[in-house]
Amino acid sequence: MKLKYFLLWVCFICMSSAFAGPLFDRFKDKQQQALVDFGNQNLKNVGAHVFYPFGGPDITYPLLMFPNFEVLTLMGLEPAKPVDAPVELDNKALNNLSSLYRSSFFRTIDMAAGLRNVADLILKQLENLEATNVTVQPIEGRTNAVEIKFIYNSKPRMIRYYKAGLNNEQINLEFLETLKPFDVVLFKAASYLPHQKPFSTFRNFMLENTKTFVQDSTGIPYDYLKDRFSLDLHGQYLMPYKFPGGFEQQDFRKYSEELKKPVLDICFGYGCKKVPTNILIATRKETPSL
Ligand SMILES: C[S@@+](CC[C@H](N)C(=O)[O-])C[C@H]1O[C@@H](n2cnc3c(N)ncnc32)[C@H](O)[C@@H]1O
Repeated sequence: MKLKYFLLWVCFICMSSAFAGPLFDRFKDKQQQALVDFGNQNLKNVGAHVFYPFGGPDITYPLLMFPNFEVLTLMGLEPAKPVDAPVELDNKALNNLSSLYRSSFFRTIDMAAGLRNVADLILKQLENLEATNVTVQPIEGRTNAVEIKFIYNSKPRMIRYYKAGLNNEQINLEFLETLKPFDVVLFKAASYLPHQKPFSTFRNFMLENTKTFVQDSTGIPYDYLKDRFSLDLHGQYLMPYKFPGGFEQQDFRKYSEELKKPVLDICFGYGCKKVPTNILIATRKETPSL
């Protein structure tokens, strides 16, 4: 009996260690080139600094989608500390990463259940994408903040991750000011937080300080964007996935139905293959000096 459990355990460990491999290969086959093509076709004019609030450890999507990416600023509630490459992920971290490759996003609840260091997951994604010369440093004056430099596609790039709450009670606008200018702000699988009252200060700040949003329907609601931004919808918006009764956007749905855009064969946020994918590119009509 005991031997049986031991063998099962060994088997589980072996499968877990190989976990991200096949899933990444599948992601690479099915999604990677589609994301690169999407960026080359639609995001060639956006600048070099990508700000990704509620981004957690996701560096794969911004790195593939934004052809001009030089600096990525990421924020989430997960802890971060410097670590050397290459990293060995534990089973919990591997599970987190598998969610990105399988479903296109990291799950907050799974990360809260035991992710020890966002930097581990970032380094593993960089390794999978064949980035080189990777270095990690703490960001001075902040805890749970790391700066990662690397070469990707022969160009030097930098990622800064900050653990920071963005709800009205925790948001630090002075700190956000220091990160400007934002060339482009990315929202994907943002738990519909920018729709919600407790995030109104954050939402208003972003509306005042962003040139371009690239987002799924969890980002800034359509009604806040439609007058001040030029909109370019890719794919179709139908409804929120698995958020019953919440965060529906009737005007956005009408706008999408009128446009009749073809289905987008990319996974980008909640409900991949269950509801149509939508990526909205919203560009400020009059650009003040940001
Ligand atoms: C569902 S995950 C998605 C992560 C990433 N956007 C992706 O697509 O993989 C949502 C992220 O929002 C962050 N988050 C949740 N509540 C937050 C808050 N109050 N302030 C800042 N970030 C928050 C979580 O820590 C997590 O990193």
